[in-house]
Amino acid sequence: MSFDLSVISSKNIILAVTGGIAAYKSAILVRRLKDYGFNVRVVMTQGAQAFITPLTFQALSGNPVHTELLDPAAEAGMGHIELARWADLLLVAPASCDTMAKFAAGLADDLLSTLYLATSAPVWVAPAMNQQMWAARATQRNLNTLVDDGVHVIMPDAGAQACGDVGLGRMPEPEDVARQVMQYFHRAQRAVAEKFGLLAGQHVVITAGPTREAIDPVRYISNHSTGKMGFAIAAACYAAGAKVTLIAGPVSLETPNGVRRINTASALNMLDESMKQLKEGCDIFIATAAVADYRVAQIAEHKIKKTGDELQVSLVKNPDIVAAIAQQQKRPFMVGFAAETRDVEKYASEKLVAKKLDMIACNDVSRPDIGFASDENAMMVFFAAQYQMEKRELEKASKQEIAQQLVEAIHDALHYEAGSAQSSSLL
Ligand code: C5P
Repeated sequence: MSFDLSVISSKNIILAVTGGIAAYKSAILVRRLKDYGFNVRVVMTQGAQAFITPLTFQALSGNPVHTELLDPAAEAGMGHIELARWADLLLVAPASCDTMAKFAAGLADDLLSTLYLATSAPVWVAPAMNQQMWAARATQRNLNTLVDDGVHVIMPDAGAQACGDVGLGRMPEPEDVARQVMQYFHRAQRAVAEKFGLLAGQHVVITAGPTREAIDPVRYISNHSTGKMGFAIAAACYAAGAKVTLIAGPVSLETPNGVRRINTASALNMLDESMKQLKEGCDIFIATAAVADYRVAQIAEHKIKKTGDELQVSLVKNPDIVAAIAQQQKRPFMVGFAAETRDVEKYASEKLVAKKLDMIACNDVSRPDIGFASDENAMMVFFAAQYQMEKRELEKASKQEIAQQLVEAIHDALHYEAGSAQSSSLL
């Protein structure tokens, strides 16, 4: 059984639905898994399709539903071996006694039984059936075989059954199943973090430094940002086990050890490179760059001559990079920065909401001893409401120490569990 190290938002779950009245619960299960940020693809057996249609799952999962082992059209899209490799977890819910028997015997005569043999991902089953069928010797024998083979079993609940019987065999509620899956990935990540570092296996993308907005081929508008904080964060993330991409504006700092650097100049250039990283897969996005709010509307093709006493240069607004990334449907954990001269807490909290960030770190740039060109900093860190985490005050310290504390804050938020499922829409 393998386990890859990226965050939950990039975990792939195959939900396999087999024949049984509990199949209706799986529709809600898809929603709950997606609420936690998982990518979900649904596989249905023939039996399942007697209870609920593939169209329902297609609409809920946002992906085509897989039903056939050797359907040429489906194989051309994502073949069964590819699907088996795609999965970080194969969750069979409800699992019928027939499916359990197939798994136990190692049969491979339909898509699901083939996937079971072809995947190296952990396999979970949530058996659901009539209480007598559950108690049958053959089912219990198969159950033991599956447990011996390393399959995780979500045991059925007791209660009234659709057939009128009362006893063990009900599939647990979708909310419970989804929560168990989420907790499993959190536990696994915590174990990895303890062993390899707080951000082990995660891809962190950081913007840093100023941007440079050309006026003509030799002149530009920029600001005093040195990029020191962003570079210190890049080094701290790498030390915490992350893969780090640093999208740097024009600064003369050395690239921290182990960090991949992409040099940029303008805000549009920085946005473009950030979007490319997002497409390649980014788990955490940290925007420390002091992006110019405006750029020159029309960059002159040739050097502007000093002809008159006045020169008018018209400016247009630059895109907000961090807000643009945060708006994407599949977004990473978003960290922004705010430099304020007054009402630090108020403005930072407003930015957190307006830019749809998960976390914001802000400093009071009216203090001459910290901030921009200084080697030291002090910060207040705020988290989005759903984390229910207290604000943190990071006392004045070197930018390296502050960076380390920010890494800890990111890690804590990422591993915050209770309430992390959005209580989104009902079906
Ligand atoms: O709105 P303000 O510039 O104060 O927001 C600061 C935060 O937004 C920082 O994290 C900064 O990197 C980010 N930002 C951005 N693109 C902009 C402006 C700000 O990513 N155009």
